[in-house]
Amino acid sequence: MVHAYIESNKQRFLDELFELLRLPSVSADSRHKADVRKTAERVMHRIKEAGADHVELVETKGHPIVFGQKVIDPAKPTVLVYGHYDVQPPDPLELWKSPAFEPTVRDGKIYARGACDDKGQFYMHIKAFEILMKHNLLNCNVKFMIEGEEEVGSDNLPTFVKQYREKLKADTILISDTALISLDQPSITVGLRGLSYVEVEVTSANRDLHSGVYGGAVANPINVLARMIASLHDENGRVTIPGFYDNVMELSAAEREALNKAPFDLNEYKEELGIAEVTGEKGYTTLERTGIRPTLDCNGIWGGYTGEGAKTVLPSKASAKISMRLVPNQTPDEITEMFRKHFISIAPKTVTVKVTPHHGGFAAVTPTTSKAYKAAEKAFEEVWGKTPIPTRDGGSIPIVALFKNELGLDTVLMGFGLDSDALHSPNESYGIKNFLIGIETIVAFYKHFGR
Ligand code: BES
Ligand code: MN
Ligand code: MN
Repeated sequence: MVHAYIESNKQRFLDELFELLRLPSVSADSRHKADVRKTAERVMHRIKEAGADHVELVETKGHPIVFGQKVIDPAKPTVLVYGHYDVQPPDPLELWKSPAFEPTVRDGKIYARGACDDKGQFYMHIKAFEILMKHNLLNCNVKFMIEGEEEVGSDNLPTFVKQYREKLKADTILISDTALISLDQPSITVGLRGLSYVEVEVTSANRDLHSGVYGGAVANPINVLARMIASLHDENGRVTIPGFYDNVMELSAAEREALNKAPFDLNEYKEELGIAEVTGEKGYTTLERTGIRPTLDCNGIWGGYTGEGAKTVLPSKASAKISMRLVPNQTPDEITEMFRKHFISIAPKTVTVKVTPHHGGFAAVTPTTSKAYKAAEKAFEEVWGKTPIPTRDGGSIPIVALFKNELGLDTVLMGFGLDSDALHSPNESYGIKNFLIGIETIVAFYKHFGR
């Protein structure tokens, strides 16, 4: 019945998703403020239309949050679905094979910014809810909280969660914003890394100089910055910031063994990325390097002349954006402070250094023993015919730790994306199959959870 309904409504489901994908809800770009709001309004409308008895747009200092709910019986358990309707900037535009905000289907995949992260994924929940309502199958209460600032650090979310504490009361959080191992092997994410994000600026002379007249005598901030960044890793791929590993939660041999049992083909991994060799912290596997180890990466670097042709200039300034992925027990603010101290301490006297912290977030580990996890497991078994493997993802969803600390709630990360979906990259995609089977699996989740 559910499967048949999905099949016969498939085109409409996709059309509705495409309508959302056409809206460029880029939270980082103030030029898209109106588009972001319009997206929130469409999401709110779709939740209402699917059968919610209350929906609202909650204003914040930034972009609005969509809240909606269907309470069938306050005595019954409640599922709080979290998602985000904002997307990453589509740049670099010239690398897209079809326009970023014109969803295009090729080889059974929807290509568009936000197709997987997270419009295609949270929309599955609205359609699953529609199905439950249409067939009178809803056996618990449902709340939706779809925000518009996830991709810029959810700065206004802590305030909202505190203010809406009562309205957000639930028994579990359910999120689809992570990836599966593959369509042949379902998985449930049980670990996410935290984040500390900083921007650094290195200044040399008080103005740009002629690189012939001054070159060799005055420090070049780009050269200096490059050295400083390079020094942040040692020859074993470890981060050199003093204290960086102090609180890192080490896994037992048994836990590491279990983690490495997940199907993973290193050759396929390298081939898909077009690289000859992987890298990382010595003594750890690729799955461990992204799943349970903290890391540091430069995300962007600029300075000097980058226009056409050549300009002989010794720049005054050079900058970089640096992210550190954290693991359980590391505190984002502490790590940011360690970074700041260290980065300033390694600067030569020839330059001045400024470190500006951006957003951060705690890592999260979710239990595999909760009623909600068990319901998700059963849902996969029923729809996929296989037991999902618990995995640790390298990305961050800081709200998971916030929900735990503020509301005391555990999350189930029931994601349906694939690593090959190119999140945050040009040509982001989401499989139509993933979208449809995701809806079916979510419906099955409710069947088991509300029982
Ligand atoms: N959905 C991603 C996080 C993710 C992706 C988790 C794949 C697991 C697998 C989320 O939208 C995201 O991009 N988060 C940011 C953090 C945020 C604070 C900007 C990230 O991980 O960079
Ligand atoms: Mn996301
Ligand atoms: Mn993202």
